[in-house]
Amino acid sequence: MAEKPEMTEVSEAQIASHWKEEDYYPPTLKFVAQANMTDETIYDRFSLENVPDCFKEYADLLDWYKYWDEILDTSDAPCYKWFKGGLINASYNCVDRHLAKNRNKTAIHFVPELEEERVDHVTYQELWVRVNEFAALLQDFCGLKAGDRVTLHMPMSAELPITMLALCRLGVIHSQVFGGFSGKSCADRIVDSGSEVLITMDAYYRGGKLLDHKIKADEAVEEATKQGQKVKKVLVWQRYNGKYSAETPMVEGRDFFVNDVLKKYYGKRVEPVKMPAEAPLFLMYTSGTTGKPKGCQHGTGGYLAYVTATSKYVQDIHPEDVYWCMADIGWITGHSYIVYGPLALAASTVIYEGIPNYPDAGRCWRIAQDLGVNIFHTAPTAIRALRKIGPDEPAKYNYDFKHMTTVGEPIEPEVWKWYYHVVGKGKAAIVDTWWQTETGGFLCSTLPGIKAMKPGSAGPGMPGIHPIILDDEGKEVPSGEGKAGNICIQNPWPGMFQTIWGDRDRFVRQYFERYCKNPNSKDWRDWPYLTGDAAIMADDGYVRILGRIDDVINVSGHRLGTKELESAALVVEEIAEAAVVPVKHEIKGVEPDMYVSLKPGYEASDEIAKKVQKALINEIGPIAKARKVWIVPDMPKTRSGKIMRRILAAISNGTDVGDTMTLANPEVVEAIKKMA
Ligand code: WT7
Repeated sequence: MAEKPEMTEVSEAQIASHWKEEDYYPPTLKFVAQANMTDETIYDRFSLENVPDCFKEYADLLDWYKYWDEILDTSDAPCYKWFKGGLINASYNCVDRHLAKNRNKTAIHFVPELEEERVDHVTYQELWVRVNEFAALLQDFCGLKAGDRVTLHMPMSAELPITMLALCRLGVIHSQVFGGFSGKSCADRIVDSGSEVLITMDAYYRGGKLLDHKIKADEAVEEATKQGQKVKKVLVWQRYNGKYSAETPMVEGRDFFVNDVLKKYYGKRVEPVKMPAEAPLFLMYTSGTTGKPKGCQHGTGGYLAYVTATSKYVQDIHPEDVYWCMADIGWITGHSYIVYGPLALAASTVIYEGIPNYPDAGRCWRIAQDLGVNIFHTAPTAIRALRKIGPDEPAKYNYDFKHMTTVGEPIEPEVWKWYYHVVGKGKAAIVDTWWQTETGGFLCSTLPGIKAMKPGSAGPGMPGIHPIILDDEGKEVPSGEGKAGNICIQNPWPGMFQTIWGDRDRFVRQYFERYCKNPNSKDWRDWPYLTGDAAIMADDGYVRILGRIDDVINVSGHRLGTKELESAALVVEEIAEAAVVPVKHEIKGVEPDMYVSLKPGYEASDEIAKKVQKALINEIGPIAKARKVWIVPDMPKTRSGKIMRRILAAISNGTDVGDTMTLANPEVVEAIKKMA
């Protein structure tokens, strides 16, 4: 499949419509006095010249069975191997090694949505017991061993990290699919990863409703089977010990309630498997420029070292902190900064069920108050929503944040200021962390104990991460000139993904080909990493991210490929062509607008529009629902037949469509405009 990402230049208007730069906000002295990282020389130690050796410092935060021989193996560039020769286990590093000092400390606070249910506080000792028992089950009952893949489709629960940690204890590669995704999405990932075991949960609460989740496993297995992937076992955790569960029946011989089978393994212990540092730890599927999601493959030693160090220096996590990242574990943020990073540092990590604004606008702040949360991590979409529904709520609760994070999309300075003054009560340091599923951990952010904050701007490159802005010809766009370009990273770092599962060509094509200086080179300096974002670098080195340059849209901080959405619409019998464009939305950042044209012989109707919405939900999940389905007489097209999404986007956003004279069918634009 030809898949050269198309780069559209960011227009001057797009830049002008972006906000003006704001003042600096220094962290408080109180914060700095306790911060994990206040040594400015870290930037020199992690200079470009010192890559890759500088990252030894990060790896030394972990416990190794065997230290590595070579810090970075570039012999298969740009597929790198970090800490080659090292032996390590992620489960050991997140659980076992904390028992000596922190046995009785809470590792996980699970906050159920129902307020009549109590918060589940899982200590490190308890986590160790539960991880061991479940690992024993996986090994004995499922016959799983190092290198096998297992798909998880679990909602937010304490059982989800327990499952992940049990799998990596055995060296089994986990692939967690966001719980809100459909059975069909889950099936595609089961097939691509070749998973023979699916782990799910019967039900969960969301916004006051008990959702039947098991039913999606049935759909997933049915669809995966059609695609030729045999799923031998479906393990079904029961939410909160089955007190509230779903009705969907179990399939004899295939489906098993974990809570029943586990009884046989009570008291069992499993030694962590000594894994090569470069062995894959997990796959995380994300959207790209084609319809097929790609499995970003993250390695064990490099990934864990990077998320542990960034959790320590950027999130400022100390073992005595109560840390709450509101993301879902089904996204990379949850993997890196709910599970692996915080647990590797022996922190208490909060996992909550439900949504931020149910049963009321005070829920988040009540949780923060009741659990003593002092580090808070969320996304602009949630901040905008909380600001809208309860701007004065935070003041009513008695919590004390020292640190807050924003991640996932650019944050408007106005929203940033509410976050700072109202949520953070003017005391918390804020980091705006820019990164991606592919990158494992932060690329740009301030180090909160060293650098001042700048609203609306992610910080400079992290220590050891050297961003560069390149124009379409590959020339560096100098900082401080206010010009946008394609932001790339000049060097490899331990957290970066190793490849796309089963598709090295796509990995190289999509992320490296564009600016590769020599395709035969084994020198990492010849392989700048293309992030796919447009950005501007100010003369202080701080980076402002403008958004994606490829066919990916970012809804509420979640990546959706336009091709994926369009393919979903094409499942509907009547649809001939589909085109998706992003529309500005007050809370979500953007929402998809779906344009469809019909096959000959069909008439536009509400019913067809409804079918399209249903297809989006079934094929992908409710997150993919369009703001509006436009049934158009034809798509505006170039003479070569290419759909002009730019024009559709202008119509959806009510902006100027610009010149349409080069189109093959300019009259269609007028017709569509009338529908707005
Ligand atoms: C894309 C990656 C990072 C984990 C969650 C999303 C956008 C991410 C920021 C930020 C502006 C941001 C970029 C990036 N993005 N963080 N702080 N400021 N934009 O991971 O789903 O892989 O999406 O999200 O466009 O490429 P993802």
